[in-house]
Amino acid sequence: MDDAILTWPEEGFRRAPYRVLHDPAIYAREQERIFRGPCWHFLALEAELPGPGDFKTTFIGDTPVVVTRDRDGKLAGFVNRCAHRGNLLCLEESGKGRDGFTCVYHAWSYDLAGNLKSAAFRKGIRGEGGLPADFRLAEHGLEKLRVDSYAGIVFGTLSASSEPLADYVGDTVGFAFRRIMHKKIRILGYDSQIIQANWKTYCENGRDTYHANILHAFFATFGVSRQSQESGVRVDPRGLHYFTYTKRGTEVESADYSETTAGLRSVVSDFSLADPSLLAWQDEFGDGSSTHLTTLFPLFMIQQVSHSLAVRQLIPKSPERFELIFTYFGYEDDPPALAEQRLKHVNLTGSAGLVSMEDGSVCEFVGKGTTGSPDASSFIEMGGKGLEDGGASKLSERPIRNFWNCYRGFMGL
Ligand code: FES
Ligand SMILES: [Fe+2]
Repeated sequence: MDDAILTWPEEGFRRAPYRVLHDPAIYAREQERIFRGPCWHFLALEAELPGPGDFKTTFIGDTPVVVTRDRDGKLAGFVNRCAHRGNLLCLEESGKGRDGFTCVYHAWSYDLAGNLKSAAFRKGIRGEGGLPADFRLAEHGLEKLRVDSYAGIVFGTLSASSEPLADYVGDTVGFAFRRIMHKKIRILGYDSQIIQANWKTYCENGRDTYHANILHAFFATFGVSRQSQESGVRVDPRGLHYFTYTKRGTEVESADYSETTAGLRSVVSDFSLADPSLLAWQDEFGDGSSTHLTTLFPLFMIQQVSHSLAVRQLIPKSPERFELIFTYFGYEDDPPALAEQRLKHVNLTGSAGLVSMEDGSVCEFVGKGTTGSPDASSFIEMGGKGLEDGGASKLSERPIRNFWNCYRGFMGL
């Protein structure tokens, strides 16, 4: 316990003090212990970097980074910060077929792995100026990331002490990654939004299987995801990651479900859609799951919601602001009608999605509700009080308790 920064409530992981959603000192420690600490962070999909010299810029926490594919097809990554005087090196979001990167400020040039290859006027001119005689190019490369990929999803870490990526992912969510990434994908597009709230409100939301039927009118009213359907939750043994699934069309009616939903704003029995094709769905994975959402600690998600496939990346921008980026994809062999259907389902879970906008809204509402109450805390006991309590039920906050437990471990709180 570090009293200098925060005293965590004595109930432990079944409470989260609201200070963690607002305090700049907490945010600074997250950068150090989580984003520059021993976690793996999403960088790209391999399909975004198919050829030699392809690259993409992104962030690990606050740190700007570049991920590349070198001339031999190997993935590499480095901090997007020139080794000379800190200029942002790569100014483009992404690109193809490059040999390397040259800083606009004084033209130091690096290869695709971040090694310094030349520095303008290094020898000076007419015997004057230039870098010292003991300057070695090899000693002034970019700060490198460790980069690896799992099932075609590229992750990076700034920490030398991160365990191997495959161990970090583990078998539980590894299965869920492979389930969606089971064949060659094709990127369909992107969108992004700024949410005026702490990034962890969205981490909680993604681990919150309790709210789906309650907050989301579209899920409940049109039967896309209901508590009365067959569903489950799988938490990995360390509690870092988890996935949840729901099987549409498997309703088992019960008096307690009907009684509760009768009073919910999300269940509107006399609503119908002018264009019901928004709901069209076939079981393309052969396991009956119509929604399948996986989260990897701290803030990566991959989803199948009906036919919409996407990864969600959060980029914290300040204690009370983050960016959420959706990358949509399908498979290379999708028939045109299925590719079209995937895009149509983005209307449910994209930045402006009929479902997702409710998640973004509640994150901001939580931010507003907790402003000014740093010493109050949330109550996270749905499904029980322990890390195992709640089992595989979606009516449980088990994944959220596990999130806070892991968060406290990384943060030393
Ligand atoms: S800051 Fe990049 S070359 Fe000077
Ligand atoms: Fe939601």
